[in-house]
Amino acid sequence: MSQCCFEEILAQNERLEYINSVYVDIFMHMPQGAIIVNIEGKIKEVNLAAQDMMGQSLEEMQGKNISEYLGTQIPYTRAMLESGQSYRDVELLLTGQKRNLHAVLSGIPFRNKEGEIRGGIIFLSPMENIHLLVNRFSGARANYTFKDIVTNSPSMEEAIHLAKMAAVSMSNVLLEGESGTGKEVFAQAIHSESQRRNGPFVAVNCGAIPRELIGSELFGYTEGAFTGARKGGKLGKFELATGGTLFLDEIGDMPLEQQVSLLRVLQEKNITRIGDSRIIPVDVRVICATNKNLWQEVEAGNFRADLYYRLNVINITIPPLRQRQEDIMLLFDYFLSKIRVGLLMEKEERERIKDYLQNYRWPGNIRELQNVVERMVHMAGESKLGFRHLPPEIRRLPNDPELLESTGDSPSMSIYEARSQRKKMMQEQEQAILIKLLQEYKGNISRVAKEMGVNRSTVYRKMKAYKIDS
Ligand SMILES: Nc1ncnc2c1ncn2[C@@H]1O[C@H](COP(=O)(O)OP(=O)(O)O)[C@@H](O)[C@H]1O
Ligand SMILES: [Mg+2]
Repeated sequence: MSQCCFEEILAQNERLEYINSVYVDIFMHMPQGAIIVNIEGKIKEVNLAAQDMMGQSLEEMQGKNISEYLGTQIPYTRAMLESGQSYRDVELLLTGQKRNLHAVLSGIPFRNKEGEIRGGIIFLSPMENIHLLVNRFSGARANYTFKDIVTNSPSMEEAIHLAKMAAVSMSNVLLEGESGTGKEVFAQAIHSESQRRNGPFVAVNCGAIPRELIGSELFGYTEGAFTGARKGGKLGKFELATGGTLFLDEIGDMPLEQQVSLLRVLQEKNITRIGDSRIIPVDVRVICATNKNLWQEVEAGNFRADLYYRLNVINITIPPLRQRQEDIMLLFDYFLSKIRVGLLMEKEERERIKDYLQNYRWPGNIRELQNVVERMVHMAGESKLGFRHLPPEIRRLPNDPELLESTGDSPSMSIYEARSQRKKMMQEQEQAILIKLLQEYKGNISRVAKEMGVNRSTVYRKMKAYKIDS
């Protein structure tokens, strides 16, 4: 062999080696699992992701038949090796004592130059990754944290205190409160502060889904499970929320028959899709909300007591806005500043607005207040914001018969008088508690604050307001 030829072969060899190492690297390190089999289905190569998913090393798997690994989904691979049919996105679910494997499979046959089938490659995507994508693109994430909760009221601070304790535990939480009080905000904040903050936050409004569809929404279904079932089936919210939090809003609207299924899932921590028999493990923290009094629903026979106790491990009641006088103007200014900064308002106009806002019933709570602010800003246009921009339902206030009735006070007393009287009573109560605690803890503000479930600055503020010396 001449010198020139030999060198050329060496160079060629080097190039081939390089190309080979690139392909091996791609194969070994690709994020999807990949298994190469020969025509008999014997395993030849297994990349790192597939070794990880199977929980076995290359040495353990090499030479074994792929049928040992693919459970009931092996026919697809057989057809691929026998007749060269590729397949896509077939779901694989293996539950064992040691480990579970939940993945989506695709297979592509290999052929030689003559077109004969030589084997094939099987790709595996972990189901977690599929969930991650679905949740990411469907917006199943929490946006609120505790910092976003605007409040200055002791009862709310107490609720926040409870919610923060709930966040560090794994217990189920029941949020009770009227519509628009911030139940979903709380649910998101709890999730954002919990260990599961990087997992999905999936919300289901049980009151907005037709009764007969709640089951399939929560647990999913397989293709052909019922007439109208979507081709390919559908993932349920429990599965999608795995590793995160499932928020069941308006739980009081859940039909009795679905309550049984829900209880079962909470007890056994697995689900079965409708039309299917396979058991799928789920790891979900459940937060529920209701604007009904759920215990009353239990007593009326509309809600199962056993489910009530399961869900109501931690109970947080969010007070309505009308019982949070100190929050009304705070939130008014907050929403105003969010829409338009530096909006002008005369001082007397502001006082008049304040008077009316604080005496309104706020049936829609914070959501309603937010709408009112938006409407007022819209009405005002370029002019200064004033009393005349208040919506009529609020300006009508003092003569509202429903309002007088709902306060339960004697009709001879004006709404303002009733309110100020009640306020005074509450303040006296609070003052008495504060004095008692300060004595008990010998003026230790931190202890008092902890006992009251508020922060220290709130205690100082209240001491000043009630003219209490430390
Ligand atoms: N404390 C709060 N601070 C700021 N915004 C709030 C607060 N509570 C509620 N909101 C706002 O009010 C609206 C209604 O809250 P939401 O949590 O959906 O109420 P609910 O679930 O009780 O009906 C949301 O737009 C939310 O942004
Ligand atoms: Mg809500």
